[in-house]
Amino acid sequence: MLVSPSILTCDFAHVADEFAFVEASGADMVHLDVMDGVFVPNLSFGPPVIARMRPLTDLTFDVHLMMQYPHRLIDAFADAGADIINFHVESDSPVEETIAAIRARGKKAALTIKPRTPAEAVFPYLDKIDMVLVMTVEPGFGGQKFMADMLPKIAQLRREIDRRGLSVTIEVDGGIASATAPSVAAAGVDIAVVGSALFNAPDAAALVDEIHGLRTADAAHCQP
Ligand code: DX5
Ligand code: ZN
Repeated sequence: MLVSPSILTCDFAHVADEFAFVEASGADMVHLDVMDGVFVPNLSFGPPVIARMRPLTDLTFDVHLMMQYPHRLIDAFADAGADIINFHVESDSPVEETIAAIRARGKKAALTIKPRTPAEAVFPYLDKIDMVLVMTVEPGFGGQKFMADMLPKIAQLRREIDRRGLSVTIEVDGGIASATAPSVAAAGVDIAVVGSALFNAPDAAALVDEIHGLRTADAAHCQP
């Protein structure tokens, strides 16, 4: 599996050092959690901050929009330097239009589902997106406990993607650490978001190596 570190729990006053830490760990990209205080009960940062972060690293920016109206700011996030734009199927955005807006800017489009949303919610869009992000905690905060009852949903999604011969990547977000990563790899996840476990790890490079060593159930679908 690939690793996308969530910088939500990093020291934002020294974010350049935190990017250097992420690069030194050998991680594959960086996960940026955007919260609007409406869709989730927390507030983080938006396009101006991402634009200032962009020159600090060459890593892919995997941007996770926890916003009620993500379609209003797709161009702003594209201008700021997002590479992958994840938005929630439960948001109040027109799904197909938002996907089209992301792709029109040459960015990868990803649909995200909260724990209580069934896999079927993204089935109508699977041939139009690059990735599905499955939440394994309620979005809003880092450091929460992994919800193991999401594993059948991930496996169901993997089966549907494979049955239709699509090359949609599956990413998982929330509570991923040494103890939980093997189960999501076995269920068919390609990319693991790792936040607090990576920033608190005694040896971040060893944790990234360990996750890299886990084979996704169908590795053919793994795209950097
Ligand atoms: C939760 C965020 C996650 C989270 C991951 O709303 O989307 O990206 O910060 O952090 P950990 O790995 O600590 O659960
Ligand atoms: Zn996230």
